[in-house]
Amino acid sequence: MNPRPADAAAIEAAAAELAAGRLVAFPTETVYGLGADAASAEAVGAIYRLKGRPPDHPLIVHVTGADQARRWAHWRDAAQRLADAFWPGPLTLILERLPGAPAWACGGQPSIGLRSPAHPVARALLQAFERLGGMGVAAPSANRFGRVSPTRAAHVIDDLGADAPLVLDGGACEVGLESTIVDLSRGRPVLLRPGGLPAARIEAVLGQPLASPDAAAPRASGTLAAHYAPRTPLELLDAGAIGQRVRVLAARGVKTVAWSRQRPDRGEGGWEPAAAEPEAYARALYDTLRRLDRAGFDRILIERPPETGEWAAAADRLHRAAVGAPALD
Ligand code: TXA
Ligand code: MG
Repeated sequence: MNPRPADAAAIEAAAAELAAGRLVAFPTETVYGLGADAASAEAVGAIYRLKGRPPDHPLIVHVTGADQARRWAHWRDAAQRLADAFWPGPLTLILERLPGAPAWACGGQPSIGLRSPAHPVARALLQAFERLGGMGVAAPSANRFGRVSPTRAAHVIDDLGADAPLVLDGGACEVGLESTIVDLSRGRPVLLRPGGLPAARIEAVLGQPLASPDAAAPRASGTLAAHYAPRTPLELLDAGAIGQRVRVLAARGVKTVAWSRQRPDRGEGGWEPAAAEPEAYARALYDTLRRLDRAGFDRILIERPPETGEWAAAADRLHRAAVGAPALD
């Protein structure tokens, strides 16, 4: 049976799969990951093949905590402070890697991305794998390259089909979008990707603002302009503009669905109510994009989220989705 409910026996079986060099998809609080033994170049290579991911895109190595992280990274004071505050949780730290760290998971970078996830199934899996001698699980999001990340076990199967490895089903992800990535390897801390942990909380612990990535920042899949894309063209619009857009498109025979807080006053198309709270919105984001993408609409109209920090990660993903979606006519 796949996906398999993530009970204790299934988690032990998954840890044994990892130890045998095979892949396992598992829930984290952010999105589902496609994991392999980070210490095995062959197992990590299988992730790249299955995802269709370019080899120069580094993976995040998932660890039980700071003790495991220290074995592979130059563990700075700032890392300790952030780990104390936010691990386990939706924060990935980029640190200089030590000799002996798995270069094959790092996409040619001199650094390594490390995260200790909070989801109880992810934690139990990492701990079971550690008991078998494992030191960490390299795992990107468990989707094909460029697609929307999976937040349910069924999404993983939808994306990977018959190629899916054992998928542990731990229900819907709490956070619903990927971890926040902070690069501590190059002097000033840099926010490489907004995510489940608001940047302001990280800045409060560091006591300094996070810098924006410059041109020297590593190329990374989660930061490509066209990413997280559904197949249906989508438009980001201000709330007040959606009704008019629905009407114009309906007159041209274009079937629309609006994902917005208020039902558009021109009700010709479908309507998907959007959450008003950023956490609930993020939790629903990828599931909603996938659902609307499959519902047979010609165009998805999305109310632009507010421009404040708590909405930054959702806004970032929506902009990338709009760029990556098929061109509008
Ligand atoms: O929430 C998450 O972060 C999820 C779950 C499964 O943990 N994982 C995830 O992985 O989103 P992925 O592979 O889709 O995105 C990982 C990103 C890379 O695209 C890159 O931006 C960054 O992490 N990254 C990892 N290691 C890095 C390194 N050494 N230097 C720079 N960026 C790195
Ligand atoms: Mg991804």
